Amino acid sequence: MSATTLTKVADREATAQRLLRSSLEHSYEPNLDIDWDAPLVEGLYGMPAHRVSLYGTDMWDQLTEEQRITLSIHEVCSIARVGLWFEIILMQMLLRYAYDRDPRSQHIQYALTEVADECRHSVMFARMTERYGVPDYAPRWHAHLGGRIFKTVAAGPAMFAGTLVAEEITDQLQREGMKDDTVQPLTRMVSKIHVTEEARHVRYAREELARIMPKTNAVQRELGRWLTALAAHRIATNLIHPDVYKSVGLDPKKARKVARANPHHQETVRWTARKLIPFLREQGMIGGPSEVLWRKAFLV
Ligand SMILES: [Fe+2]
Ligand SMILES: [Fe+2]
Repeated sequence: MSATTLTKVADREATAQRLLRSSLEHSYEPNLDIDWDAPLVEGLYGMPAHRVSLYGTDMWDQLTEEQRITLSIHEVCSIARVGLWFEIILMQMLLRYAYDRDPRSQHIQYALTEVADECRHSVMFARMTERYGVPDYAPRWHAHLGGRIFKTVAAGPAMFAGTLVAEEITDQLQREGMKDDTVQPLTRMVSKIHVTEEARHVRYAREELARIMPKTNAVQRELGRWLTALAAHRIATNLIHPDVYKSVGLDPKKARKVARANPHHQETVRWTARKLIPFLREQGMIGGPSEVLWRKAFLV
């Protein structure tokens, strides 16, 4: 199947110019724009309760309100940690991308601007976790190793599609969380900053993917699909680190099993990818044997 370009794509330089202008007008410095000393609000969740992995299960019903709040704080930090992990991967890929190209182009100046954004985001996520007093929920060793391989070999389709997976999944959760007044103001402000700046990154990656797909051959497409599917599987299955359950006295192995079998949680994962999947399908980046990985991760 050949890739079709249904998504409208503007001229590369024109898009980059608009994104650069928007970056100047709407960017944040989280170190200054977030009140890090503000006390946490008692009774508020770290993320919306209905997005917590155990929501809707008997295990959830047995937790006290206080435990549910604690778990939601650990889960939002775990998700942010996966975001941070992928941001470091993305910064390296973008720098490598810029290394080979003409820095006078707006397109490359935007790639460098995006590195600066991601750098601030990673510090922001790290500070949020620190502020919530939560352990470091770094992705487990196989994802860590997979990430090392991905950032070394991913170029072209897999680089942009993999980036979209990480960016659109977190974006979907944050867009909802930032408007929810049962959620801590800290999470809401972090989400608002991230959503604002990520909208530009998503545009950059989507358009570039749509530009390069028609130029790929069948082998490049298949390789791109496998790499993207592997990245998507790792991202989605690491969002909730099993150790988060220890925070409320649950056995990590047992609770993870319950969460993975929880239809409500599976539906949440699918919901985070609801805009991403049709786009990647349209671009021919999902399909063939590697689709099994998307399914195993509950993304499709
Ligand atoms: Fe980011
Ligand atoms: Fe981003």
